[in-house]
Amino acid sequence: MRRPILAGNWKMNLLRREVERLLDELRAAVAGVADREVLVCPPFPYLAQAAAILEASPIQVGAQDCCWELRGAFTGEVSPAMLKDVGCTRVILGHSERRQLLGETDERIHAKLRCAVKAGLNPILCVGETLEERQADRTWDVIRRQLERGLLGLEAAETAGLVIAYEPVWAIGTGQTATPAQAQHVHRRIRSWLEKRFGPGVSASTRILYGGSVNAGNVDVLMAEPDVDGGLVGGASLRAADFARIVRFEA
Ligand code: 13P
Repeated sequence: MRRPILAGNWKMNLLRREVERLLDELRAAVAGVADREVLVCPPFPYLAQAAAILEASPIQVGAQDCCWELRGAFTGEVSPAMLKDVGCTRVILGHSERRQLLGETDERIHAKLRCAVKAGLNPILCVGETLEERQADRTWDVIRRQLERGLLGLEAAETAGLVIAYEPVWAIGTGQTATPAQAQHVHRRIRSWLEKRFGPGVSASTRILYGGSVNAGNVDVLMAEPDVDGGLVGGASLRAADFARIVRFEA
């Protein structure tokens, strides 16, 4: 009942020509895939280009961030209404790189999430603990706080397009993937939290993605876990053959 989502977070990589090539290759490589959602999240300058290239393809385009307001004097920011306007369906919010490098707080992430929902863009809310937090046995405390604050005041009716991404910070870009059991454990807790917060319907239908060194070699065992509904893929999403294999996971 939960259609898997395989999403590529390109981060700050690739230039126009490379974007064109990767998308052309990807479009061909995932042709015919119908039972799962495929999403690419290129940097802002290439979103319109990506949407144009993928117009006749089922591959969706998403953004990596958005502003917490729809319009106005916010130099350098990008409105979720603009993202929707150029063809995006989803937006990644609260990625650990933005939390750590840009100082994004749960409160700011929450404001962005509300604004994205208002603009009709489906948020992918990222949560995850650092290595230090895991070692101090604070993993769930951290994730619960990120969920509580990120989704503050949200009504069950507003969660229709919501996706959660569990991305342990220690697994991002390190090659040190969480074990399927570690991922499943946290995903299960997130789903229970969703049930308490929004009820069984929302809990059963909300997709929870795993992110952190997902690759063509480990995707199958991760996707075999009952509460892992997809992947948010960084490095491996920049190579068409690898990402296509991830999309075509066998669980
Ligand atoms: P890697 O797949 O490169 O570890 O990145 C994961 C990530 O941060 C996706 O948002």
